[in-house]
Amino acid sequence: MSVLNSLKEDFPNNFLWGASTSAFQVEGASTEDGKGLSVADIRSIDSKFLDTSVSVDHYHHLEEDIALMKELGLKSYRFSISWTRIFPNGNDQYPNPHGVAFYHRLITLLKDNGIEPIATIFHFDLPQSLVDQYNGWADRRCVDDYVRYTKLLFEEYGDMVNYWLTINEHSLLVNVPNMIGLKSDDSKKLREMAEHANYHMFLAQAKVFNLCHDLLPNAMIGPAVSYMTNLAYNHKSSDVLLGKSLEDTVSFITMDVAVRGEFPTYYLRKLNEDGINLPLQPEDEKEFKTGRADFLGLNWYCTSIFRHNEIATSKMLSGVIAQIERYEDPELQHTEWGFSFDPLGLRYALQRVHDRFPHLPLMITECGWSEREHLENGKIHDHTRVRFLNDHIYQIREAIRDGVNIISFNPWSFIDLLSVNDGMDKRYGLVYVDRDNFSEKRLKRYKKDSFYFYQNVIEQNGSNIQSEITSN
Ligand code: BG6
Repeated sequence: MSVLNSLKEDFPNNFLWGASTSAFQVEGASTEDGKGLSVADIRSIDSKFLDTSVSVDHYHHLEEDIALMKELGLKSYRFSISWTRIFPNGNDQYPNPHGVAFYHRLITLLKDNGIEPIATIFHFDLPQSLVDQYNGWADRRCVDDYVRYTKLLFEEYGDMVNYWLTINEHSLLVNVPNMIGLKSDDSKKLREMAEHANYHMFLAQAKVFNLCHDLLPNAMIGPAVSYMTNLAYNHKSSDVLLGKSLEDTVSFITMDVAVRGEFPTYYLRKLNEDGINLPLQPEDEKEFKTGRADFLGLNWYCTSIFRHNEIATSKMLSGVIAQIERYEDPELQHTEWGFSFDPLGLRYALQRVHDRFPHLPLMITECGWSEREHLENGKIHDHTRVRFLNDHIYQIREAIRDGVNIISFNPWSFIDLLSVNDGMDKRYGLVYVDRDNFSEKRLKRYKKDSFYFYQNVIEQNGSNIQSEITSN
């Protein structure tokens, strides 16, 4: 009986209803006030329309944007700190005072408005100078530079920030190495550099876990890991096993190292077979032994169904995955960019991760629906996003009832921002920003229908969520 009494029914009162963004995708001002260029800024210059020099100009709209967060009722806000705003070259002798001051303003404003800051230390924006100096994460010096940068963040903001995220989507950076500035025409060489970068990021993260526990004993720290629900189209064991490899490569290798401090043996075996040696040093062992995550951040977007296809070209560099082909389930709705609408897939993901790490709290650090959107008389009627929020939040509550310890939900994104590959064409925000890929227009903010819907959800701590909203 007492066991039954302890079953969770609803969102806890201290549940952190949040929203998410990242620095280069919202801030703009990419060379202002002493900021240095990051790899993301360089990609933006190359692409001609991913305009990080302005993005949605959050840098100059800080007060206005935080007032909107307050009006929305946010309990938390997940943002990232731009390394090159703090250290323009990644490892300068002194930090840039303007950059340090900007995040003091941001964090203080959040606290003053009762919003819990959730700070990501590194979200896709490695200082370009570190790539130029020594090939960035592929070199061990990057570990020290990341730890030094993080130490400064802990010293500056540690009394106000209780939740820290180390690295956003580590596995993506390894599988798409140009995201961290790594390039080579020799694919074997590129793979080796990416695996070295992988190791260095793990080591830096373990060191920073330890540092956080030493300097900020009341704070919690973890990684933000991509978890896509990957299901096999076929019931054949070979495809199911392939699904497991995909899950391991995208999520579980990263989670296992962060939580258990161990590299899974199937991963080490694969490296060995491919003739790649990790750049281990004897002193690293003690970092991995103690440097462990306090919670897991999950970036979840959709369910993908895939099948084995010998002639499809795998996009996964790490080679763990054989040739795969994605299949769009006609019964599921998809975004224009192929992401499915599958709330049960989120429930499944939460169960999978909880089963593997039952003692760890989970924080949903990203989850969102993208659309091409245009103002209609000053309004955005984003019905599908409203339905997306309702149906996914419903499944989060179901997972809580199942016993999964979920502490926070931070949909992607608080405000429209630059999508990594599609700029302003692909919008995720609860707040619309009036600009497009080629013109900044007035950058005026408009609250979408989803803003009002989510505001209501937060106000009622999720009690107004329906099992399913069917109509559009
Ligand atoms: C996640 C990233 O991978 O996906 C975000 O952490 C990104 O930075 C989001 O914006 C959506 O991807 P995209 O390509 O649509 O911007």
